[in-house]
Amino acid sequence: MALFETTGLRKSFGALQALDEPDVAVESGELVGLIGPNGAGKTTFFNTVTGIEDLDEGTVRFDGREITGLPPEEIAQRGLVRTFQQTRELETMTVLDNVRLGGRDRPGERTLPGIVNGRRTRDREAAVTERARELIDFFDLDGMEDEYASALSGGQRKLLEIARALMLEPKLFMLDEPLAGVNPTLERTIVDYVERLNDDGMTFLVIEHNVELLREFVDRLVVMHQGRVLADDDPETILQNDAVVDAYLGETLTGGVD
Ligand SMILES: Nc1ncnc2c1ncn2[C@@H]1O[C@H](COP(=O)(O)OP(=O)(O)OP(=O)(O)O)[C@@H](O)[C@H]1O
Ligand SMILES: [Mg+2]
Repeated sequence: MALFETTGLRKSFGALQALDEPDVAVESGELVGLIGPNGAGKTTFFNTVTGIEDLDEGTVRFDGREITGLPPEEIAQRGLVRTFQQTRELETMTVLDNVRLGGRDRPGERTLPGIVNGRRTRDREAAVTERARELIDFFDLDGMEDEYASALSGGQRKLLEIARALMLEPKLFMLDEPLAGVNPTLERTIVDYVERLNDDGMTFLVIEHNVELLREFVDRLVVMHQGRVLADDDPETILQNDAVVDAYLGETLTGGVD
């Protein structure tokens, strides 16, 4: 059974059908890219499956259960975690506190047996801080942990956002344009982190317009267009698909999409 699977999702905004039954499945351990032109419905797909926006119709299954309509916190606690297209760091808080914040709804028992059960909150707080520091180190933001988030570059904010989301220990980590606005060097770095986490067993669904970079590290590409799945295959097959090129890639490869 797939780790994540949607069936018959529908979502409209007035007359606009943003999701028109884009059936998507992700197997445990996969690293899948989600591409498509601006307005295809990619972010709406993330928003609805993570409970941020309500669905009109359809079913979302994750980790063996139906999660359709559950509140966002509960979905995240089950391990379906996402980042946002616009980073949401709190500028007047330090890097460390921003990352710690990701752990506020953390169930705890998954990796910290015994710390939550019956022990003092202080132990839990200390564990959250320790995990936040580990993530800051992992992303080479150490040395920045006491800086205000406003001091970070656009690319570092993307890393901060990813680090904060990782506090929730995703089983499926959904990234919405993690490379947008990031310089080429840091782009590579972010891709390396994603690949390392995937090698360690984390499953990914990544929205990204940089198809040339994406094709190098994903197992599979799902192409959305007008709220539907236009194609779903390995990257090389997708990039030779005329319908995909017509809908999207011709435009992207000539620099028409941001
Ligand atoms: N809250 C909303 N109210 C009204 N229309 C919306 C809302 N959210 C999204 N839409 C519309 O739904 C369509 C899908 O938008 P969505 O943001 O999901 O696209 P996307 O594939 O993520 O695009 P991009 O690549 O530009 O981020 C667009 O036409 C958008 O204008
Ligand atoms: Mg989007």
